[in-house]
Amino acid sequence: MKKLVIKGGNPLKGKIRVSGAKNAAVAVIPAALLAEGDVIIENLPMIKDVYNYCHILNKMGVNLEISETGTVTLFNGKKNLSEPPCDLVKKFRASYYLLGVLLAKYGEAQVTLPGGCDIGSRPIDQHIKGFEAMGAHVEIEHGLVKAKAEKLVGAQIYLDVVSVGATINIMLAAVRAQGTTVIENAAKEPHIVDVANFLNAMGANVKGAGTDVIKIRGVDKLHGCTHTVIPDQIEAGTFMISAAATGGDVLIENVITKHLDPITAKLIEAGAQIEENGDYIRVSFKRRPKAVNVKTLPYPGFPTDLQQPMTAFLSTAEGTSIITETIWENRFKHVDELKRMGAKIKVEGRSAVIEGVESLSGASVQATDLRGGAAMIVAGLMAEGRTDIYDIYHIDRGYQYIEEKYKQLGANISRVEVEKETYYLDKVVCK
Ligand code: EPZ
Repeated sequence: MKKLVIKGGNPLKGKIRVSGAKNAAVAVIPAALLAEGDVIIENLPMIKDVYNYCHILNKMGVNLEISETGTVTLFNGKKNLSEPPCDLVKKFRASYYLLGVLLAKYGEAQVTLPGGCDIGSRPIDQHIKGFEAMGAHVEIEHGLVKAKAEKLVGAQIYLDVVSVGATINIMLAAVRAQGTTVIENAAKEPHIVDVANFLNAMGANVKGAGTDVIKIRGVDKLHGCTHTVIPDQIEAGTFMISAAATGGDVLIENVITKHLDPITAKLIEAGAQIEENGDYIRVSFKRRPKAVNVKTLPYPGFPTDLQQPMTAFLSTAEGTSIITETIWENRFKHVDELKRMGAKIKVEGRSAVIEGVESLSGASVQATDLRGGAAMIVAGLMAEGRTDIYDIYHIDRGYQYIEEKYKQLGANISRVEVEKETYYLDKVVCK
C-alpha cells in the first residue's frame, strides 16, 4: 500500500500538459466494440479506469494493444464476446456503458450493477427508461442488469434529470437502432460531444451533441476509425485550482479553454490572474484569495468534479464562502479531512459553509474518493508542514502520473510505502 507525502508551502511554477479526458475515455473504449473494423484510440489517459476497461474487454475476448503513450488499438475480429466479468465491472462506474453497447451489438446485455466513487445514490433509472423506450425489456436480478430487445427502435426520450451517463448510454444503444432517437434534456458535457464525434467517425449519424436535444438516426453498421480523445477538463481544472491555491504561476497546456470557463470565472472572482490563448491557460495568484460562492451544475455550470478541490482552495480565503452541491447528495466527505488540517467548514444539507482560515497545517488524511483525493493534494500543497494522504488508489483511478506532474511544477510530493506500524482507527490514521 502506498501513500502520498507532501511538504507544503511551495508555490507551483512552470508548465504542465493535461492528459486525455477520463470520462470520455471510459465511454469511447466500450463504444469501439460497435465497429466492424479495427479502432485506434489516441490520447487516452494512462489511469486505472482505462486499464480496467481494457482488462474487461480483454476478458470478454477482445484483442487489444495498449501503448505507454496512451494509444489503444482494438481488433474487432471476434463475433461472439463473453459476458463482462463482474469483479472488474464493479470496480468503477463507467462499466454501465457496456449495457448500451452490447444491446446495440447483440440485442442483449447482462452487466453487473457498476461501482464507482461513493458520493451519493447513483441510480440508473434514466438509462433503463431510455432502453425501454427503444423496445428493450430490462430487469435487475441479484445485482445483474439484464436487457433484451428483439429489435431496438428509435424513440423520443425525455430525461427527467440531466444525466451524463444516461445521455451517452442511450446514444450508444441508438446508433444502430431502426429509425431516429431523440434525447431531450440531454447532458452537454464536453465528453458527450467527444463520444458523439467518435461515433460519427465510425459512421454513425448523431446530431446536436453539446445541446440539450440530441438526434441519433440509426445506421446498419459502423466501421473502424482513429479517434483522439479530448483533453481532460477536470484535470486541467485541478491544476488551475492548485496553481491558485499555492500562490503560483502555472501554464497548463493541451486544454480546450472554452471547457474551463466556469472554473476561470470563479478563480478570477477569487483574485486570480488568468491568461488564455488557443490550447493553453496560465493561472497565477499573488495574494490571499477572496471568498466566493460556488454552486455545482451540469455543464456549462461549475463541475461537481471540481467542487472538492475548490473547497480545499477556499478554506484559506478571506471571508466566508458557500459551496452548494446540487448533483450528488453525499460529496462532502473530504470536509472532515480538511478539518483535520485546520479548515473551518460546516456542512448544512447540500451546502458547505467555509469560514476562511489564515493557513492549513499538514496532517494525516484520507482520499475519501477520487476528487476528494485531489482536494487533499490541493490542501497538502497549501498547508504548512507535512501531509500524508492515504487510500490514494482512488486518485490513481482518474489522474495520470499525478505526483510526477506536481513535481514538475516544483511541489515536494512523493509516493511512499505505508509504514507497517500505521493503522486506521475509526478513520483516524494513527502512528
Ligand atoms: C458522470 O457520472 C461522471 N462519471 C462523474 O464523474 C460526474 O460527477 C457526473 O457525470 C456528473 O458530471 C463518468 O462519466 C464515468 P450523472 P454519472 O448520470 O454519469 C442522477 C468523477 O469524479 N441520476 O450525470 O454517473 C444522479 O443521481 C466522476 O470523475 C439519476 O437520478 O452521473 C445524479 O444526481 C464522479 N438517474 C445526477 O443524475 C439516472 O439514471 C447526475 O448523474 C442517472 C443519474
